Amino acid sequence: MLEKDLGARRFHHSLGAGELAVVLASANGTDADRAYTAALLHDCAKALSADEIMALAQSGQYPVDAGDFEFPGILHAPVGAMLARSRHGIGDDEILEAIACHPTGRAGAPRLLWIVMAADYCEPTRDFPGSDDIRRLVLKDLRKGLLMVLKSKIQHLTGLGKPAHPRVCSMIAELERTPERVGTDERRT
Ligand SMILES: [Fe+2]
Ligand SMILES: [Fe+2]
Repeated sequence: MLEKDLGARRFHHSLGAGELAVVLASANGTDADRAYTAALLHDCAKALSADEIMALAQSGQYPVDAGDFEFPGILHAPVGAMLARSRHGIGDDEILEAIACHPTGRAGAPRLLWIVMAADYCEPTRDFPGSDDIRRLVLKDLRKGLLMVLKSKIQHLTGLGKPAHPRVCSMIAELERTPERVGTDERRT
């Protein structure tokens, strides 16, 4: 179903994200099945048209912050959470939130969201200058790697003359301020 919805390229990106998420979950004391599900489905709405995404984001079926409408490129994420629930039967709120927030993160995010963000950014089919370095760092130290991911996102947007989303900036500030206390709220077994 996902392959049909997304097409080959995006489907392989999703599979790659799922694979890396499993590795990161295992290395960071997080449930690998939930990480795989969230990463596999994170872009499940990405192939919809911009108009379809906007209409679904405005439908109220999944909460979208009012300010997010100023960043239309991220609206596939809350719409993805909506489809993950309605089309793929996902009822786990933390998985849905990881899908909904994967482009920006947020301060106070659970480790599941860290993993989905990192897996999305540097899964094995990603091949951009510096992708190997980020992937290595994410695998070695998830917090430091995620900081590099977030800063790279800002750098990319700055290069395009676009503003960074406030949630990206607040997540960077939190990760830099209290590294030992954040990202530890994941349920452990
Ligand atoms: Fe995405
Ligand atoms: Fe993605």
